[in-house]
Amino acid sequence: MPLRCDLILRDATIFDGTGGARFSGDVAVAGGRIAGVGDLSGMSADREILAAGKALAPGFIDAHTHDDRAVLCGPACIGCKISQGVTTVLVGNCGVSLAPARFTVPPPPPLDLIGAEGWWRFDSFGDYAHELARRGSEVNTMAFVGHQTLRVEAMGGDVSRPAKDGEIARMRERLKQSLAEGASGFSTGLWYPPAMHATTEEVIAIAEPLRGAGGLYVTHMRDEGERILAAIEETLLIGKRVGVPVHISHHKCSLPENFGRSVQTLALLEAYARTQDVAFDVYPYPASSTALMPERLREDVPVMITWSVPHPEMAGRMLADIARGWNTDIVEAARRLLPAGQISFAMDEEDVRRILAHPMSVVGSDGIPHDAHPHPRLWGTFARVLGHYVRDVGLFPLETAIHKMTGRTAALFGIEDRGVIREGAHADLVLFDPVRVRDRATFAEPTLPAEGIEEVWVNGVPVFANGAPTGEKPGRLITRNRAERPAAA
Ligand code: ZN
Ligand code: CU
Repeated sequence: MPLRCDLILRDATIFDGTGGARFSGDVAVAGGRIAGVGDLSGMSADREILAAGKALAPGFIDAHTHDDRAVLCGPACIGCKISQGVTTVLVGNCGVSLAPARFTVPPPPPLDLIGAEGWWRFDSFGDYAHELARRGSEVNTMAFVGHQTLRVEAMGGDVSRPAKDGEIARMRERLKQSLAEGASGFSTGLWYPPAMHATTEEVIAIAEPLRGAGGLYVTHMRDEGERILAAIEETLLIGKRVGVPVHISHHKCSLPENFGRSVQTLALLEAYARTQDVAFDVYPYPASSTALMPERLREDVPVMITWSVPHPEMAGRMLADIARGWNTDIVEAARRLLPAGQISFAMDEEDVRRILAHPMSVVGSDGIPHDAHPHPRLWGTFARVLGHYVRDVGLFPLETAIHKMTGRTAALFGIEDRGVIREGAHADLVLFDPVRVRDRATFAEPTLPAEGIEEVWVNGVPVFANGAPTGEKPGRLITRNRAERPAAA
């Protein structure tokens, strides 16, 4: 143990990320790693912080993001995450990844959520990894390759049909190459128009290289409403046939007639977990957000507009009010707003709580970083779990919340030496005030930063301090640890 370190945090209340009970002690950092934990009165450091009364946790891992582009464009894009204590983001979700694809025409929704055509310029995953290394990033990034991205490219935009054998072969080859260049898995978004015509067999055929590469299968399932149980079965069948762990994105029961059905979905997932590796993430809000799709609107589900190319002034307004002002119905109003984004108030709070509290879940924001008026999950998710759900609602202890944001997430995704506070681990850390921590972002004011986050370190370097990004970019591309597999829950 070195006697002189870069940093020592003294007398902190330590949550080590394992879910075990908090304890008070010191944590030392040297050379980007944790150099000691416990009573370190015999050690000194260049910088010492008196952390009495403050909570110290591993940096939070955002299990579900669309930060593919945000990690490339600095604090203006990624401030929403580091201000909440997030130190690692998982990108390339819902079948949408910025690489590998080059488009010269605007890609169809929902691909446009992460960037207009100028951003689709990574011929290979290796090019994306290279750009990330060249620009540097505040946070660590783990990346999946998106099925929708591969499909739009391999099928030349003609996606309203199952893929042909040659197209499947091309997608499989693209995935295989990307895994060799540092991607960690394959994501699908079978609910979305560019992927909904893909058969289960198509997904299995493309996903085949995951097995040899030790990659993960991650999915925004084909259905999160009436046919959700069938969608879970399809997901687990894909995992079984490919022979890899599966991760279900933003688990929810959508639309009023499905409220309460998380009792069924969780029971089914528990049954599968006895024989297969499966887990899921969840965000702490009863509203979803994605591209605006007029054909899927319903009168009984309120919708807020998050952005609109022809009508940017409508961002933040309710679709029903816009329709009334235009003297038309919601479907016609939505058509006039396209291309656009939406928030749908389509979930039940009891389902959100049941899924969040379930031992198989981890926390992921699903934040959409480039929307004019984003869903508040982008700026609020992690602080909301710590403040609202732990302290105000009492849904579970702080130890459990932090485990679902750190150690459990790292184990599921194979993120080595992170998500825990122990000697030798990478020094990704967040210091916060457990009494004051809370989300401030709301549906009306969605970009207010969280409160109570005091300082955030990535690989031992402060990235957020005194309420602002420091400008440092110590983040790295992380590739899934191929040896380590979490046991079935
Ligand atoms: Zn999704
Ligand atoms: Cu998503």
